[in-house]
Amino acid sequence: MKPIVYVTRKLPDEAIAALGDQVEVRMWKEEETPVPRDILLKEAAEATAIWSMLSDAIDRELIEKAPNLKIISNLAVGYNNIDLDAARDNGVIVTNTPDALTEATADLTFALLLSTARRLSEASRALRAGEWKAWTPLGFTGQDVYGATIGIIGMGRIGEAVARRAKGFGMRVLYHNRTRRRFEDFIYSDFDELLKESDFVVLLTPYTSETAGMIGERELGLMKETACLINVARGGIVDEKALEKALKDGGIWAAGLDVFEQEPVPTDHPLLSLPNVTVTPHIGSASIQARHAMMQLNAEAILACIGKKEVQNRVC
Ligand code: GLV
Ligand code: GLV
Repeated sequence: MKPIVYVTRKLPDEAIAALGDQVEVRMWKEEETPVPRDILLKEAAEATAIWSMLSDAIDRELIEKAPNLKIISNLAVGYNNIDLDAARDNGVIVTNTPDALTEATADLTFALLLSTARRLSEASRALRAGEWKAWTPLGFTGQDVYGATIGIIGMGRIGEAVARRAKGFGMRVLYHNRTRRRFEDFIYSDFDELLKESDFVVLLTPYTSETAGMIGERELGLMKETACLINVARGGIVDEKALEKALKDGGIWAAGLDVFEQEPVPTDHPLLSLPNVTVTPHIGSASIQARHAMMQLNAEAILACIGKKEVQNRVC
């Protein structure tokens, strides 16, 4: 009997083909809807490998009910959807897809930063709604990006790639990270100082018990009234209620959000009704090239594990 690989979402043929014919591939055949919990549990119970999406809760219950499971390979760099302790306790390897998405995610971060600063989605919506009556001297004026100060919270691979882009925009680059790193041009900053000094605060930390709710009322209160908050990491890092208040009261100037506490974010979410919020649907790594490269890494990790070879990109 061939080992079973369970793929939790419909993936392109070439990604599946990369698994070869030494495994039996089972797949949730929907592209738009995540696999329902009961089906996921049933499939996991027979699988040797699970190829998971960041929207799947791979928790202790699932892992303990999967006696054959050897590897969970997540199509993401983040892996907060997976219970690593449970994986370790059960001898299950977990892998992610770093590097392959670094530059694509940094591009989206910068796109969102620029859109937020220059009010692109608000202006575009107004034009389509027939609200462009005349060119006006101060219509849709935003904030300068060139020469401004960017503060990057979480200076990993993606943070560094964003910092390089910021240099091209003549920005002063501050960063805060658990461990201080050596850079010529990027300045390590105390957390509070970074919030006080930055025109753009960019969140790029993993979502952990330490970073949950890291940006709340106090932190937003430290930011400049002209500052923009850009979140491309995980929604739970920001207290959304506090953010809504700061955006309404003029505590900060605008926010660019690619991630939300609840995803998909409900369309009646109060943040979506604010004109100074620019939103995208969790598309940080969504370039064609990056997504295919990520899938390739997942397939390689699964095959290496099943072939009892060394597995790359392990997080546990
Ligand atoms: C996307 O959010 C990822 O973690 O890859
Ligand atoms: C704007 O279009 C300008 O010419 O300044």
